[in-house]
Amino acid sequence: MQKKVINLGLAGFGTVGTGLARIIQENSNWIRRRLGKELKILKILVRDLEKKRTFLPGPETEMTADLEDLVHDPDVDIVVELMGGVETAHEVITRALREKKHVVTANKALLAERGNELFSLAYEQEMGLYYEASVAGGIPVVQTLKESLSGDRIRSLTGILNGTANFILTEMTHKGLDFATALQAAKDLGYAEADPSLDIDGIDSAHKLVMLIRLAHGRDYSLNLLPVEGIARVRAMDISLAGEFGYKIKLIAQVREKSGHLQAGVFPALLPEEHILAKVDGPFNSVLIHGNAVGQVMLYGQGAGDLPTGSAVLSDVLSLARDNAVPNNTGFLEKILPKADIVKPELAVSRHYFRFTAQDKPGVLAAVAGVMSEHDISIAQVVQKQELPGGAGVPIVFLTHKAQLSAVRRALEIIDRFDFITASAVHYRILG
Ligand code: NAP
Ligand code: HSE
Repeated sequence: MQKKVINLGLAGFGTVGTGLARIIQENSNWIRRRLGKELKILKILVRDLEKKRTFLPGPETEMTADLEDLVHDPDVDIVVELMGGVETAHEVITRALREKKHVVTANKALLAERGNELFSLAYEQEMGLYYEASVAGGIPVVQTLKESLSGDRIRSLTGILNGTANFILTEMTHKGLDFATALQAAKDLGYAEADPSLDIDGIDSAHKLVMLIRLAHGRDYSLNLLPVEGIARVRAMDISLAGEFGYKIKLIAQVREKSGHLQAGVFPALLPEEHILAKVDGPFNSVLIHGNAVGQVMLYGQGAGDLPTGSAVLSDVLSLARDNAVPNNTGFLEKILPKADIVKPELAVSRHYFRFTAQDKPGVLAAVAGVMSEHDISIAQVVQKQELPGGAGVPIVFLTHKAQLSAVRRALEIIDRFDFITASAVHYRILG
């Protein structure tokens, strides 16, 4: 862009929008030095014009509640979509691209669900659609996969991609907080989505994983084919039992490549305490990448929050303001990425953690071990704990050697039907 002032139109001025505006104000001299131009927030689209704001950009910024006003403004060079949700955000982005404006977005839900359509529109319009902040907040993982590791074949990618879920699990592990209190703290700190069930149920991690699969493999892995389990079922008892065995429970998003086929999923898992990802606590995210040439690369940083996410948004704005925009910003030349060849999720092989709750009587362990043996599941460790209050049964924890997920599920179905079982089995995979 030849202009000396680059005008931004922000759609959304909540946690991330405010963070971006603060950085633009605080780092204005630095930005001018890097860019040779000034960034100005010309217009901001919000839902409620009367809302009290914790921060306002200068008097030159106009607030509006009218979408038309933003996307049609001929003076806006880059539209920055930070409103969240799918429908209105989709409208803002498509209208902006058709008006020949570059777009920056942090909206992983929208890109995971309708990315193919939006990337091809950007391609047709020859405008940039940039999205660094949409995966892992302030961590530059999009740029890393798209540029720095673009020559590598990515064999596996394992991430902690949701700050809210990781924050909740960390608070439960280290401070003994209950789930609801930890979730409220995550909301208060601005980490959670407007609908926090997206964080808790693993959907937000799934959105991000679908985007990382596109970047790492150039394949479209449909969201509805991805197995997703969140942290709502994680109990303080399992966090504590896992700790006794030397493990931490983390919400993991993973894709592994085998002969061109992809095995992917989002699930809570036990990681050995010395595993590099087990040390990623609080709202921090991390992505552990294994490339065929580079070997292991780990990225770590704040996955949520106003300034970290604003920093990633600003990096995209600077790329576009420098005229670096590439019309197809997936990192691949195809206008539409081909579908992924998928390995059935139930064929995944790993070690496993089971917690059964059973009556304390002779024959229980033998019966459970018998079913496991019939399903080719080899037991590594067993511990029976004290009777639960109110005569609810005794917890019995099994750690296994490697076994296929499909065999584990069949065995658990049979074990759950024994009359000595007093509550459904709890099961997690063990990674590392
Ligand atoms: P937020 O705090 O809820 O802010 C949303 C903003 O969008 C508010 O200013 C709201 O207006 C405005 N808005 C929402 N719907 C609108 C509509 N229909 N018309 C006009 N304005 C509308 O959200 P956020 O946490 O900043 O997140 C924004 C995006 O960034 C989301 O896609 C989110 O997934 C993504 N993201 C967030 C984080 C994070 O740490 N929070 C990190 C990475 C990515 P009012 O202010 O008037 O209510
Ligand atoms: N709600 C998301 C999280 C924000 O907690 O990770 C960052 O994408």
